[in-house]
Order: sequence, then structure tokens, then C-alpha cells
Amino acid sequence: MIDLAARAIREGKLVVMPTETVYGLAADATNDDAIAKIYAAKGRPADNPLIIHIAGLDQLDQVATDISDAVLELGRHFWPGPLTIVLAKAPSISRLATSGLETVAVRVPQHPMARELCRRSERPLAAPSANLFTQLSPTRVEHISPEIRAASEVVLDGGASKIGIESTILSLVGQPRLLRTGHISAGQLAEVLGQPIPEASPERIRLAPGQYARHYAPRTPLVLVDQLARSQPGLTFGDPQNPHQLHMPLDPIGYAMLLYHSLYQLDGANLESIGIERPPETADWSAVWERLRKASAPE
Ligand code: TXA
Ligand code: MG
Repeated sequence: MIDLAARAIREGKLVVMPTETVYGLAADATNDDAIAKIYAAKGRPADNPLIIHIAGLDQLDQVATDISDAVLELGRHFWPGPLTIVLAKAPSISRLATSGLETVAVRVPQHPMARELCRRSERPLAAPSANLFTQLSPTRVEHISPEIRAASEVVLDGGASKIGIESTILSLVGQPRLLRTGHISAGQLAEVLGQPIPEASPERIRLAPGQYARHYAPRTPLVLVDQLARSQPGLTFGDPQNPHQLHMPLDPIGYAMLLYHSLYQLDGANLESIGIERPPETADWSAVWERLRKASAPE
């Protein structure tokens, strides 16, 4: 199956690829026509650049040009894994994939199928999350929509994504700054870099490419509550009181792993709204909070 997928990539076609964060919709990052198919399939605005996946640190010079000690240090520490780093772009990467920017977002995924696909296709793989624009990111193959399936030559089933939310994004163009929270925290990055990583201000994040107020959202409206009412559908830290209440663990790693899957389950149940009990406001919940805020933002 991976050989079939690798061939499809080389032929400029799309492949749904499992990663440890979320499923990606992958194409050859050096092929403009293939990249255009990703934007068309997702209904994604052209000003929202894609993340480029490579098989290992040794391939970094194929996609980026300013390979500093800091990148190598971070790469050795966190790759393969859920960290994306923004660097200066190498010329071979499609300008469509970076929305015309001179920078490129790169990561080495940890999921064995994703790494194998990078290796066997012998191409850097541009892959946004394999959902329609603004909708929930898929963390299991059954979450992939019919539209995305129809646009893909091969759909690889790699089981449930272990992390469950999108990668942390760190820009190393100029001063290091955090563009998106994720499983790897600003504190962990600061420790390896030996300098604090400013959390980009909300203002700066809004100005960064591809940042929209509403994102990661199910079709059913979400409401954040302190505690679900007995009859209300939603996600609870307590014991479920009705069939449309799902229990969530009071730990941010376990919660992130289940978040999109739980929302997909309730989204399919024709509910008027989904209640979500507010998690703690502590730093270790910041990646979960970023998703909850965006998913519950008004349309
Ligand atoms: O975990 C992940 O990162 C997943 C899996 C499939 O690897 N991918 C993912 O891709 O979340 P996507 O398209 O949903 O997120 C891409 C985001 C853009 O919206 C933008 O915020 C940022 O990455 N990005 C990409 N290129 C950038 C660049 N050159 N400069 C700044 N931000 C960039
Ligand atoms: Mg996405």
C-alpha cells in the first residue's frame, strides 16, 4: 500500500497519510500542480501555507536554507515528532505550498507510515490536516470526509493518532517565537534553545499566515460551560449523565488525544449544541485551550 502511495505522490496525486498529530493530505512539495490539488480539495484559501514533511534531519537542506545550530539542536531533540519549525525556504519547494512566502514550515513526523512515505516517494511532502477548511482535523481514518477521499488516490490507515492535535509551530526566522501551541510546550523549546520563547501575542498570531479565528470546528455549535447540565450533550470531566455525554480525562495529554475524536462522535449525532466543560486555566492546558477557543468562535 505504501508503495502505491509513494508512486501516487511521484505522479502528482494526493495521499491521505496518518501522522502522530492528525491525518495529513499529502502531495509532492516540489510540484505546483500537485499542491494546487490540495488547496482545491480542502477549499483552503491560497494565502494559508502548508507544512512540509521530511523523513529526517538529513533532508533538511532539501527544503530550507538557513540551517543554524539552533535548528539542528531542536531537530535532534524533538524530531521525529510534533514540532514544526519555520525557516528560510529552499528554491525547489513550490511557491504555492508556501503561499508565496520566502519561508517554509518543516517537520519530521514520527508515525512510521508517514516517514516511510516520505522516504519511498523521495519527495518532501506538503501536508495540511486532511479536513475541509475550518473543520475538525481527522485523528482516525473514519473521520476523513467523502470529499477528501474522492480527491485522494490512496488513503493510508495508520490507526488513531497518538497526539491528537496539530504540531507546535516555532518560527526561527528572526527571534524565535511560538506561532501555534501543541504537545511540545514553549517551556520545553526554551530549555533546549537556552532562551525564552515569547508566546506570540494574539495580535501577532492573527497577522501570521493561516491563522483564522474560527478553526478546528465541528458543524454543531460548541458552548463552553463550567459543568454540563444533566440532559446536556457534550464533554465532561465527570461521569456521563446521558448517552450524549462523553467522559474526558482531566489531564491535557489524554484530553488532546481524544478531543477531535469525541467531537466527531457528537457531531454525527444531530445535536443542537455540544457543551464542553472548561478545563483548568493552567499553562499545561494551553494547547487544548487554543483549540477550544477557535472551535467555539462564532462563524
Ligand atoms: O501536526 C501538523 O502540523 C499537521 C500534520 C498533518 O503534520 N499539519 C497541519 O497543517 O496542522 P495545517 O495546514 O493544518 O497547518 C499549517 C499551518 C498554517 O496554517 C500556518 O499557520 C503555518 O502552518 N505555516 C505554514 N507555513 C508557514 C510559514 N512559512 N510561516 C508561518 N506559518 C506557517
Ligand atoms: Mg489544519
